[in-house]
Order: sequence, then C-alpha cells, then structure tokens
Amino acid sequence: MKRCNVTNTWWRDAVIYQVYPRSYADGNGDGVGDIAGIRARLDHLSALGVDAIWFSPWYPSPMADAGYDVSDYRDIDPVFGTLGEVEALIAEAHRAGIRVIVDVVPNHCSIEHPWFQKALADPAAPERELFWFRDGDEMPTAWRGEFGGTTWTRTPDGAWYLHLFTPEQPDFNWDHPRVRAEFESVLRFWLDRGVDGIRIDSAALLMKDPDLPEVDPSAKHPFHDLDAVHDVYRSWRRIADEYADRALIGEVWLPEVDRFAAYLRPDELHAAFNFDFLGCAWDAGAMRACIDRTLDAHAGVGAPATWVLSNHDVTRHVTRYGRQDTAFSFATKREGTPTDLELGTRRARAAALLSLSLPGAAYVYQGEELGLWEVENLPVEARQDPMWQRSGHGRDGCRVPIPWSSERPPFGFSPDGAAEPWLPQPEGWKDLTVAAQTGDPHSMLELYRRAIAARRALSGPMRWLPSPPGALAYARGDVAVVVNMSGAPVPLPDHDTCLLASGPLDDGVLPPDTAVWLRTT
Ligand code: GLC
Repeated sequence: MKRCNVTNTWWRDAVIYQVYPRSYADGNGDGVGDIAGIRARLDHLSALGVDAIWFSPWYPSPMADAGYDVSDYRDIDPVFGTLGEVEALIAEAHRAGIRVIVDVVPNHCSIEHPWFQKALADPAAPERELFWFRDGDEMPTAWRGEFGGTTWTRTPDGAWYLHLFTPEQPDFNWDHPRVRAEFESVLRFWLDRGVDGIRIDSAALLMKDPDLPEVDPSAKHPFHDLDAVHDVYRSWRRIADEYADRALIGEVWLPEVDRFAAYLRPDELHAAFNFDFLGCAWDAGAMRACIDRTLDAHAGVGAPATWVLSNHDVTRHVTRYGRQDTAFSFATKREGTPTDLELGTRRARAAALLSLSLPGAAYVYQGEELGLWEVENLPVEARQDPMWQRSGHGRDGCRVPIPWSSERPPFGFSPDGAAEPWLPQPEGWKDLTVAAQTGDPHSMLELYRRAIAARRALSGPMRWLPSPPGALAYARGDVAVVVNMSGAPVPLPDHDTCLLASGPLDDGVLPPDTAVWLRTT
C-alpha cells in the first residue's frame, strides 16, 4: 500500500476483521493456526474487502489464557512463528491495502514474564513493586475475579499477589513509573514496525485503589474505570500522534455511556468496542435505543462509533439470535439453550446489513462472514479456556478453527496429514467452508463480500425514517436501510433499486428477520 503523507482517519469508517491466530489457518501442520497460515490465506481478506486486520495476541506465552498472558511483548510465540514472519506479514498486508492492528495487554502479564519471575524469586526484589504484592495471613480482599473465583494467590514465601483474571496473569502496578515506561516502549516497538493500530486489552482495569477497599456498590469501584487510567491513555495518545494515521482502540466494557465516552475524548483513544450493541437483543425498540445512545455518546466527544456483533469472548451471534433470549451478557451466558440455527442465521444475515450500514467502523470476527455458529458440544477434555474452569461457562465454542475447504475436518484448516485441530470442528461445517460458499449468491460469505463492497455507497450521518412497528428504517445519503425485526412482513418504502437484501423479498414487502439496502433517488 502506498502510504499517504496527509493525515487520514481510516479508523473512523473502516471494516476491521479480527484474526484469532490459533484458529485462522495452520501452516505447519501442528493443528494450531500460525503466521504462515495467515500469510497463505491473506487473499481471503483481500477478497472480502476488509480495510484492516486486528490480530489477537501472538506473543510468547505459556497460554494459560490463550496468549492473553504475555511473557514477552516484543516477540512472537514459536507456536505462531517468528518476528521476521510477522514483519513480512505486515508488509504483505500493506501491499494488499490492508492495515494491521496488534493487541497489547497492559493490565497483566504472564507469571513467566521476567519481571514477575524476579519478583517471585526474591521478596526484596525491586520487581515486587511492579505488581500488587501484599503480606499477611489473610487474603487482602474478597474481590471476585473477572472469570470468577478469587483475585489473590499466595507465593511460597507467604505473600499474596493480585490477579484480576487467572493466577497465571499477575496484574501490573500502574502507579509505578517503570510499568508506564515499559509500555510506552512496547507501543513504540510495534508502531516502529509499521502497525497501524493498537487494540488495548481490558483497558478500563489498569488502575487499582491502593487502599484495596472491598467492592461497595455505594462507593467508587476499587478497580473498574478509575479516573487515573485516563492519564495513561493521554500519554499513549501523545505517542500515537508522533506517528501518522495510527489508532488506539480500547476494550472498554462499561455500562455507563458517559464513562465509556470519556475514553474517547480527543486526547485519548481513537475508538472503543461497542459492547452495548453486541449485547443488544434482536428487538427493534432496544436496537434503536442502543443506536441512538451510541451515536449521542460518540458525537459528544467527536469519536466514531463502532459496530461489533461478535468476538473471541462471546457466544457467536448466529447462535445468540437463534434463541429465545437474544441478548448477550456473561452473567446469562448459557450453553445448551434451545437454539434455532436457521432463524439465527437469517437474523445474522440481516444483522450484517445493519452493522455494515451504520455510520462508523464495523468489526467482523473471523468466521462470522461464514455464518459459523457457537460450538456448544465440545468434549470437556478438549476445552482449554480458563474461564470454563473458573466459572462453568467458557469461550472455546467461538474459537474453533475455521473451515476453508473439503467435506470433512480439518476442512483445509491444516495441511494434509497434520495433527488434529486444537479444538474439534463440527461435521456440519462442511457446507460453510470458504470454498463451498464462494460463488454461491445465497451464501453468507457472498453477502459479506457484496455488503463490504457496496458499503462505499453509504456516506454521511444517518437519519431515522418512519418505520412500521418492529422494524428499523434509516437513510444515509440516498440509500435507505430497512431491517425487519418483527414476526410479520413490512412494506418497503419507495425506492429506485434494491442494492442488497439479506434474503428473498416477497413482491414489495420485507419478510421477517430480513434487511435491505435501497437506492432512493
Ligand atoms: C480481554 C480479552 C480476553 C482475555 C481477557 C484477559 O477481555 O478479550 O480474551 O481473556 O481480556 O486478558
């Protein structure tokens, strides 16, 4: 790609595809996806038409949390390949006109990180100050971890250390200048390698109240969204601004819209994932309120909205939308709930035309363009997610290696004669391979390809149009979008041509769970 010298704001309306490296494509035949596999399958992303790829972590890690436990932020785990291969991948993506976003995990590292190893080995080591160590017979707090369970683990010398996630993920002490300096250097390391953006893991959790109070609903939370975290992102923004066209994208799960928007002030992050939209039920009233809330919150700080339907942490939306309760939250995540996959797929098709037509950036999680469902019947012995052990519900079902070709597993994910994929793929995915869907005008893949290409016709802000109950209707420029979330057909507004429909239209009416893009003048 020829880089422009003028500042551009690609991240404001990009289509950003999330690659989960261990499940995208396996180049070396060990059953785990890797950089060689990604490079060999970059053409899929060119054909899909995405603007950028966000790579989930690929750093050296003992993989206690699938690589979100990092032991070296400046290298690549051998299971995925080498730093040299990643540099080649960045160059190849750029040549294909695709930008690259890496995932940085600043809240915690791995117990194998050299700083933590030093801290563990010697109670007097200065590295103890870089984490949250406390002495005492009793666990310092009764905080509940993000995956359930307690948040403190005892070292052999009797001290406790804090981990908001698993015991293998010790939390950094962000009050310490060495921690700040280290991450500023990590940012530069990747920005100097030409990456176009940084996805920031668990962005609202970095700061902790040093008094370590118990969680009290009537008081400020001791580790969620402390005000001091904004100083960190102001300093990161100054660094990003030294480079041209780089974006900081936060993983900020916060129910309060104003607190969320504070991360997107002009001197902080460029964008953050819209989990409000991801969790919203398939219901026109709820969806309209969510879209309004999103657009208002972002307008207040001048940031672009993002539209996210799935990622590597949540139940795939084909499955969610096929259930009676179509909303998502970790608290109510229930595997094995009765699911109508045909209904879920129909709604997922309509949802694609919804999320790709709203103003802002759209995220696509690998496999969503194939219409993959959540694999809910993984054998217990195959499950790897630590959340499963700690809370009884896990995320492996959305992380199953994706199907590329052929009639049976591994569906081209690995080369012939390779080890079995690290999670077993369902036989039923034979109809959902990239090869099976390519050229089929009714396939999910061709819908995504057409929508991403046609999305360029949509520009400017959106305005709501009058719509029948149970449907959403809005316009962007001269394109009208109608999404029928009700159980009955609705009439189509006046239009010239139909640009795209998520399903067959019945003579001027839009069937239930179907969406359409219409040219109106
Ligand atoms: C984020 C990641 C998730 C990970 C957690 C701890 O929520 O998306 O996969 O387990 O942070 O790093």
